[in-house]
Amino acid sequence: MDIVVVGSCVQDLISYTPRFPNPGESVRGRDFHAGSGGKGANQAVAAAKLGAKVAMVGRVGNDIFGPENKNNMKQVGVNVDHVTVSETAKTATATITVSDSGENMIVVVLGANMEMSPASADEAESLIAQAKVLCCQLEIPEEASLRAMQIARKHHVKTIFNPAPGLPNLDKSMLQYADIVCPNENEAEMLTGIHLTSIDDAKQAALKLITYGPSIAIVTLGGQGAVVVSKSDQEPVHVAAPSVKATDTTGAGDCFVGALAFLLVTQPHLDIKEQVRRAVSIASISVQRNGTQTSYPLSSEVDPSLL
Ligand code: RIB
Ligand code: NA
Repeated sequence: MDIVVVGSCVQDLISYTPRFPNPGESVRGRDFHAGSGGKGANQAVAAAKLGAKVAMVGRVGNDIFGPENKNNMKQVGVNVDHVTVSETAKTATATITVSDSGENMIVVVLGANMEMSPASADEAESLIAQAKVLCCQLEIPEEASLRAMQIARKHHVKTIFNPAPGLPNLDKSMLQYADIVCPNENEAEMLTGIHLTSIDDAKQAALKLITYGPSIAIVTLGGQGAVVVSKSDQEPVHVAAPSVKATDTTGAGDCFVGALAFLLVTQPHLDIKEQVRRAVSIASISVQRNGTQTSYPLSSEVDPSLL
């Protein structure tokens, strides 16, 4: 396995509606989509659909959504041998509302994901040890993500840490185990205390992030692309995103992380800025389609110059 993801599996339940309801109000939606999601599984699936060899370490419940989410990953070629099934907690769900303006609102109930622990990472040590890239996020207990990153460091495996969703009291010392830290603007703000209102602010935040330990910081900026800086040159660069009409941006950040992991494995010689440029373009395909994992492109759907 080239890429190991230690993270969340979530059943996404997405309603598309002209506008968000107000508290106490009911609005009539246009459409509904049930699909597999969760930041961890999303990143695994994004990389696998591009052709990477990926394994997922996660946990689902013994209910209708558990097998469905496991099978979905399997179908795109993700190894699910380390996705365990809980008898005590349910498969996580995300109740998502997407408005016509393309914005989303999400309530995520993490269920079985929160039964993961440092032991879950320990059990996957030999899997992590032989990988080229580890991806971690924050939809499982942070001690579990931390242990996975420590194992990766011990075995010289590169870690991409996507500190999402943002946790106000996250122990920043965890970032010393990340080679690449990749927050969005809100998460970058939580980590650095810098209020991000411009690309220049994002550059300042990225510079601050590399002082916490990672050798590369990437701040994703939605339709504005991303800012990337590496410790070696301390020169933050803005990478613009292609301009597209977004219909559903849910999970676009995960598509970016999965695509970046894929490129780190398949195009390791490329400069990080070029890898980020390609990953931004690949993620921009996903925002033009509904759903999370269903919206991620297969390698055959991506311009070969981006792969
Ligand atoms: O990042 C997007 C994901 O976060 C969704 O798939 C949903 O499951 C939420 O947890
Ligand atoms: Na999408």
